[in-house]
Amino acid sequence: MDRPSFSDLKNAIRTIPDHPAPGILFRDITTLLGDARAFRRAVDELVQPFAGLKIAKIAGIEARGFILGGAVAHQLSAGFVPVRKKGKLPFQTVSMPYSLEYGSDEIEVHKDAVSPGERVLLVDDLVATGGTAEAAVKLLSSLGAEVVAACFIVDLPDLGGADKVRRLGVPVRTLVSFE
Ligand code: PRP
Ligand code: ADE
Repeated sequence: MDRPSFSDLKNAIRTIPDHPAPGILFRDITTLLGDARAFRRAVDELVQPFAGLKIAKIAGIEARGFILGGAVAHQLSAGFVPVRKKGKLPFQTVSMPYSLEYGSDEIEVHKDAVSPGERVLLVDDLVATGGTAEAAVKLLSSLGAEVVAACFIVDLPDLGGADKVRRLGVPVRTLVSFE
């Protein structure tokens, strides 16, 4: 059986107009996650450039980045670091506020989640304004980690988020774009 192409991955993502606010075209990956072949292909493609790069930890951003990040961590035999919305982590944290396409929030990471010099790959489902990913890169860097790259299934290039992350010196991999 043929493997699904990137256009099949794009077609596996559902678009919901006006969610969670009027004017937002919400790119819903639950349909991709529910399609076994598409889910496997997406994880394989996210991982592909990073095999052999000695990634010690995957940092996954709550909530959708947890689903992908766990699978990526397994494939790369790496540890997993949850980057959570404020107030969820039980131990001492560092935190950072950020804004995104439809609001603002704050994320945090346990202070001992990464060690100085540790090579970390950031994983999330989607990059839009890049506010969330930028905050995550800054938090992990503040703890001394080396953020080797960031990867996402979906890029919304009109919102400039992937370039914002690249300007931090972090290479970005995305699989499909919605203009
Ligand atoms: C979504 C998405 C990214 C972020 C991208 O998460 O999963 O984490 O927005 O937006 P940005 O590039 O403009 O920062 P959301 O905050 O909606 O949380 P969820 O995963 O819990 O639904
Ligand atoms: N996060 C930020 N913008 C988004 C969008 N348009 N669809 C899904 N998740 C998002």
